[in-house]
Amino acid sequence: MSTLSASVPTVLVTGGAGFIGSHTCVELLEHGYRVVVVDDHSNSSPEALLRIEKTAGRALHAVHILDMRDVEALAEVFRTHRIDAVVHFAAKKAVGESVQIPLDYYEVNVGATVSLLRVMREHGVERLVFSSSCSIYGDARPVPLDEHEPARPTNPYARSKWMCEQVLADTCRAWPELSALALRYFNPVGAHPGGLLGEDPRGVPNNVMPFAMQVAVGRREQLSVFGGDYPTEDGTAVRDYIHVVDVADGHRVALEQLGVRPDSAGAAARTGLQVLNLGTGVGTSVLELVAAVGRACGRPVPHEIVGRREGDVTRLVADPSAVAAAWGWRTTRTLDDMCADAWRFQQANPMGYDAAP
Ligand code: UD1
Repeated sequence: MSTLSASVPTVLVTGGAGFIGSHTCVELLEHGYRVVVVDDHSNSSPEALLRIEKTAGRALHAVHILDMRDVEALAEVFRTHRIDAVVHFAAKKAVGESVQIPLDYYEVNVGATVSLLRVMREHGVERLVFSSSCSIYGDARPVPLDEHEPARPTNPYARSKWMCEQVLADTCRAWPELSALALRYFNPVGAHPGGLLGEDPRGVPNNVMPFAMQVAVGRREQLSVFGGDYPTEDGTAVRDYIHVVDVADGHRVALEQLGVRPDSAGAAARTGLQVLNLGTGVGTSVLELVAAVGRACGRPVPHEIVGRREGDVTRLVADPSAVAAAWGWRTTRTLDDMCADAWRFQQANPMGYDAAP
C-alpha cells in the first residue's frame, strides 16, 4: 500500500465546480486539505471556483480544465501533483436527458470512471470516494431502503452509476490495495449558509428545489407538482432530501475513513469497495417541500398539481443506519435549514453565478 504524503494530504476533486463538488471543496479546504480540481465546465461555471475560495477563505491548490476521458491530460494532473485520494463527482446527471442521449451518459459517466481508475493505478493512488445515486434502486422498493436491496435502475443515468459501481467492484478484486467508497446520495438540495455557493442549473431546472426557488424569486410563474394521485399521505411523491453541506461533510468523513486526514493520524484504509447510502431517513412529499420553501421565503409558492412525470417513483427514503454504524455519522440539517440556505443563495444570486454582479 502506498504511503500518504507526510504533510497535508492532496485530494483531487473531479467535477469540483459542480453543485456537490463545490460544497465538498469548501468542506475539505476548511478542514485543512490541499484541493486540486478537475472540471470541464460542461455543466458548471468557473465563478463557482472563485466562490469556493471566498467561502473557505483559502485558495484551491490547482484547477485543471479538462475532459476526463482524455487519459493523457488526466495523467498529466497526476504527474504534476502528488495526489493522495480522489473524490469523483464529474458526470452527467439529468435523468430525462439520459433517456434521449444514452450513449453520452455511458461514454461520459462510465468512460471517465474507467480513465480515472487507469490513471490512479498507474500512479499508485489507492483511495477513491465515488459519487453514486439512490436512483440505482429503481421503483417499487421497500422504504426505508438499505444497501442490500438489489439494484434495479430504470434509466440510462441510473444504469451508468450502477455500471460504475460494478467497474469499481471488479477493479477492487483485481487490485487489492484499492480502497473505494461509493456513496449513494438521495436528493441533495440546499446551499452553503454563507450565501455564495448553491445550485445553479443551466436552462430550465429538472429538479424540484431549484425550480421552486426560481418561482419564489420571480423568475418563473409557478411550480408544476408532478402527480397528485400517488399512494402517499397527500398524494404527492415522497423523497429523502439531504442538505448539500451534510453531503459534503459525508465526503470529508469518507476520506478520513480511508485514512486520508490532515493530521495524518488516520486509521489504516480498509481495502475493497464499500457502498453506503447518504440520506436522512426522513421522507418529505412534494407539497411538504413546497410549504417549507414558502416558510423560508415568507410567502406561498404558486403551484399547480399536474400529471405524473414519466419515470418517477412514489417513495424513495434512505435507511441511513449503515453509515451511522460504520462511521458514527449522521446528517444534522433539517428541511427548514435546506430551504433557508437555498433561499439565501437564490436571493443573493437570482440569475445564478454567471449573471452575478
Ligand atoms: C432524480 C434521480 C436522482 C438524481 C436527481 C438529480 C431518480 C429516481 N432520481 O431525483 O438519482 O440524483 O434526480 O438529478 O431517478 N417534481 C415536481 N416538479 C418539478 C420537478 C420535480 O413535482 O418541477 C417532483 C418529482 O416528480 C419528484 C420530486 O419532485 O417527485 C423530486 O424530483 P427531482 O428533484 O427531479 O428529483 P428525483 O427525480 O427524485
